[in-house]
Amino acid sequence: MDSFEFNKIAGAVLGTALLVFGLNELSKIIYHAPEPEKQGFAVEVAEAAATGEAAADAAPAAPAESLGTMLASADATKGQAVFKACAACHDGSKGGPNKVGPNLWGIVGRNHGVHEGFAYSDAMAALKDKPWDYEALNTFIANPKGAIKGTKMGYGGLKKDADRANLLAYLQTLSDSPVPFPAP
Ligand code: HEC
Repeated sequence: MDSFEFNKIAGAVLGTALLVFGLNELSKIIYHAPEPEKQGFAVEVAEAAATGEAAADAAPAAPAESLGTMLASADATKGQAVFKACAACHDGSKGGPNKVGPNLWGIVGRNHGVHEGFAYSDAMAALKDKPWDYEALNTFIANPKGAIKGTKMGYGGLKKDADRANLLAYLQTLSDSPVPFPAP
């Protein structure tokens, strides 16, 4: 906690120093350019750079590719490695046990909260008429508590799109009749 606080403060100080330094350099360019045309030019570049940055910041909010496109190039073998993050709580084998979380064999296409012998949260049990498709799994795994308010799955979420796509490709294999991916 202490070193985290320290890092935050150090980061803020460094960030401020860089900003001051950057503004200083920028003002040198703007105010010490010998010809008036160059002054205008320098300002234009600075504005273009600022706009570019804002655009780059906004970009991750919109998914670059559809889930179908992501899944078309997903790798179930890599997904098996990602599944290690789930295996502490979930068994994925056919007829395997429930652990902290329910067994996940055949999860794609199975309804929410219906695996035998598992005591689901009320929030999950309430969705028992809704099948788990790839979209629903993707949203849930990215942010469990955000997707299903009141779930008791104690997992923060898998943030990287590629990891989730690979994981979904692995979940597809946990079935006697794997559910096809949605079209790209
Ligand atoms: C700390 C333990 C834990 C971890 C780690 C965990 N889960 Fe869960 N999971 C649970 C619990 C508990 C539930 C039951 C949630 C409820 O009833 O609200 C659950 C429910 C689920 C469900 C719904 C199952 C059903 O039958 O409806 C899916 C799908 C799921 N988890 C996938 C995953 C995946 C994929 C990962 C890894 C990225 C993962 N979980 C990581 C504990 C965990």
